[in-house]
Amino acid sequence: MPAPDMHRALRPLGALDLDRAAALHGEAFTPLGERGWTRQDMAELLASPGVAGLLIQIDGADVGMAICRVAADESELVTIAVRPAERRRGTGRALLAAVLDHVRAAGARTLFLEVAADNPAARTLYEQVGFRDVGSRPAYFRRGDRPAVDAFVMRLDFG
Ligand SMILES: CC(C)(COP(=O)(O)OP(=O)(O)OC[C@H]1O[C@@H](n2cnc3c(N)ncnc32)[C@H](O)[C@@H]1OP(=O)(O)O)[C@@H](O)C(=O)NCCC(=O)NCCS
Repeated sequence: MPAPDMHRALRPLGALDLDRAAALHGEAFTPLGERGWTRQDMAELLASPGVAGLLIQIDGADVGMAICRVAADESELVTIAVRPAERRRGTGRALLAAVLDHVRAAGARTLFLEVAADNPAARTLYEQVGFRDVGSRPAYFRRGDRPAVDAFVMRLDFG
């Protein structure tokens, strides 16, 4: 549970945040066996059409980030990450809510995402918010020396 006096703030992920956002992404994803993104990866992605990033801070410290893409009435959650030490305090849910606000305001009526079959934490979060499985991609996520893992494609409609 978050502390009652905790101050959580959300803001757009900007050019000055790229190093910190890349570090946060790596910290969140390398334990899963995925490659963390570099500053350059982030910069290129954020320069693509329809892409926006969000940074979430608690008491002024970066704790999470998300990147989404909107194309006409469809959108995609490209990534979402919360620092391991800060999890289970509602930050992931708050970030996802902010992504939904953003894509809806940008004209989307659907949000898609891909989640690895070996990631029950993320799947539970998405199911709680109302996402449903609409497909799968066999051996989609690489896991270094281990076999690749299937992805579930999930979708949320908000008309
Ligand atoms: C997925 C992730 C963003 C969730 O962030 P978080 O701040 O811990 O999420 P929240 O605290 O808002 O959790 C919301 C709900 O998700 C579910 N959840 C989150 N982590 C969970 C876990 N480890 N096990 C089971 N359920 C979990 C719970 O239902 C939780 O609600 P509750 O705490 O009231 O029970 C975070 O675990 C993360 O960064 N993981 C590594 C990167 C990643 O997997 N990104 C998604 C790729 S598709």
